[in-house]
Amino acid sequence: MILAIETSCDDTCVALITPDGEIRANVISSQHVHDRFGGVVPEIASRQHLSLLPVVVSQALAVAGATLDDVTLVAATRGPGLVAALLVGFSAGKAIAAARELPFAAVDHLHGHLAASFLAPARFEPPFLALIASGGHTLLADVRDHGPVQQLLGQTLDDAAGEAFDKGARLLGLGYPGGAALEALAAEGDPGAFPFPTARRMQSLDFSFAGLKTALLYKVRELGEPETQRRRADLAASYQHAIVETLMIRVRRALEATGATRLAIGGGVAANGALRAALQQLGVELQIPAAELCTDNAAMIASAARYTPASPFPAYLELDVYSSGERPQ
Ligand code: KG4
Ligand code: ZN
Repeated sequence: MILAIETSCDDTCVALITPDGEIRANVISSQHVHDRFGGVVPEIASRQHLSLLPVVVSQALAVAGATLDDVTLVAATRGPGLVAALLVGFSAGKAIAAARELPFAAVDHLHGHLAASFLAPARFEPPFLALIASGGHTLLADVRDHGPVQQLLGQTLDDAAGEAFDKGARLLGLGYPGGAALEALAAEGDPGAFPFPTARRMQSLDFSFAGLKTALLYKVRELGEPETQRRRADLAASYQHAIVETLMIRVRRALEATGATRLAIGGGVAANGALRAALQQLGVELQIPAAELCTDNAAMIASAARYTPASPFPAYLELDVYSSGERPQ
């Protein structure tokens, strides 16, 4: 079995999957200690990972009905993410592997979001177009094999889609992270109430959410406190509608430009019901992983590990994590 650890942000995640991609355990312990700061505090996240990880590893083994003797490959997220948070899971993964002289796979987090689509029972095989929308990334990629994201067609020029959700949620007085809370509030509102911008005139396949965020800020100021409170659900629904449209415009364009007839989505924003519903209307063959495989989890990291060259013991002991940018070789 493959044991994988994901600690790139504020979720402490451990999963066990079989070598052919069947999930045996996928334990996610979300740290709610950051809510009152309005964002993740790296130092607090890493301390939380440190205290939660041993418990989450034991729990995952118990759920899988396995022991470390059943593990043949250990994997952990190497980056991108918060360095202090990544280091905890990455070091723990290396230590578990080294203690048993097992091979170790250093997995890229975005490869993980993509690889959620390769898990049983709904395996989706390349080639396909992928939309990855998370708190840190928004990108469209032409996926030709099971490896890390290579052929980028477009990406965000400013905020990520999840960040746009989180910033909008904050303006509407919702907690952090705000995507799911904004979705819940939007369910009671009218998506047509306020016409927010979708950067439609941008001709490329790139995304931009900064104008949208500013439009909400100005609308909230214009309405004033009591009216904003009264129209909160309409504001949330219209704002969500604009984010979904921003994504959908580029997805439609990319399908047209590439001639692709198959589409997979991943990342936390892919858990959004309004986006999932809009995608159903496209009429293409669609892969929408279960919501718990879209938001950060370790099953997707284990899945990506199947397509990541593993280092033999003890070569991986010198590997380090990375926060963003280019993947080191
Ligand atoms: O992939 P993810 O769990 O972590 C990162 O790699 O960033 O994505 C987290 C992001 C957050 O911005 C969160 O607000 C957003 O995904 N998110 C959602 C929903 N669930 C999580 N956004 C919209 N609707 C949701 N239901
Ligand atoms: Zn993620």
